[in-house]
Amino acid sequence: SGLPSAILNIITDSSDLDVANPTSFMNDIGVVMGKFLLMLAFLSFFLLTTTKAWSQQQEPQVPCLFIFGDSLVDNGNNNGILTLARANYMPYGLDFPQGATGRFTNGRTFVDILAQLLGFPNYIPPYARVRGRALLRGANYASGAAGIRDETGNNLGDHMPMNQQVGNFGRSVEELRRLFRGDNSTLNAYLSKCILYSGLGSNDYLNNYFMTDYYSTHSQYTPQEYASALLQDYCQQLSELYKLGGRKVIVTAIGQIGCIPYQLARYDGNGSRCNEEINDAIQLFNSGLKRLVIHFNKVLPGAKFVFLDSFESSKDLVLNAKTYGM
Ligand SMILES: *[C@@H]1O[C@H](CO)[C@@H](O)[C@H](O)[C@H]1NC(C)=O
Ligand SMILES: *[C@@H]1O[C@H](CO)[C@@H](O)[C@H](O)[C@H]1NC(C)=O
Repeated sequence: SGLPSAILNIITDSSDLDVANPTSFMNDIGVVMGKFLLMLAFLSFFLLTTTKAWSQQQEPQVPCLFIFGDSLVDNGNNNGILTLARANYMPYGLDFPQGATGRFTNGRTFVDILAQLLGFPNYIPPYARVRGRALLRGANYASGAAGIRDETGNNLGDHMPMNQQVGNFGRSVEELRRLFRGDNSTLNAYLSKCILYSGLGSNDYLNNYFMTDYYSTHSQYTPQEYASALLQDYCQQLSELYKLGGRKVIVTAIGQIGCIPYQLARYDGNGSRCNEEINDAIQLFNSGLKRLVIHFNKVLPGAKFVFLDSFESSKDLVLNAKTYGM
């Protein structure tokens, strides 16, 4: 099977890793400027076709939505930091009512639309700006160039890697605990109804493993070993979200990033539409991630993890680009 061996251990031998008690850690990341700006904005094009109106005056289907991820869902967390992975200037936001906000797209992101469909009265605010009771609706911790690994994306400058996003969620939970006057059982009941969305990993390939002039991971790991290493870190990070009170968690696969213009511009030598070496490496990660999600649902009481297969949907986008107006 294509299952990375280390993850197979996690799944078959749960003594290997106590998922209910992972250690959390935060590392500082260096600031190093590089040349390339990751723009996966095209992915949002097919999401823009959603036409359902912004819901008014009704309670959302869930009380809150917390978002973890990279430039696909960042809505302004990188605006105040030193990085090339920043999008608070035109033409970003060209089709967005508030103009350039830090979203890496002309319009709404996937999670903006998700928030609308769930019936939230407003978009979920970036963690960098959320204050006080607004936190009850959730927060967006995503950061352009971020990855599962701390060093990922350093070629672009500063950003918040997943470990830091999880740490920031921990701070938010502490703030919520104060809003709930220290009543843990009410807080936990509340958090258990919230949706957590996590989409990471693209940059661990684009702005790490397949950027061999800047990172050494490609010479240290085979694609299989690298997928395993990523999944072990991600397993710990997602377990920490559970430990902090998250119960309904959407975990997103990596899309077909071997087909994005950024990659084709860097590697396209033989006129093919996609770089299959990258897509193949990502499939190893995605299949292990799917099994990790199944594993979480078995071992974490009350947990409902959902695997969102964005590899298949982005494949459809590439194969049927014309249908989507591209
Ligand atoms: C509530 O949970 C926090 C964090 O786990 C803990 O530090 C605190 O002691 C708990 N409070 C009560 C009253 O159990
Ligand atoms: C070049 O094209 C061939 C098939 O025509 C494909 O197998 C190969 O992976 C392509 N190269 C890259 C870098 O994608």
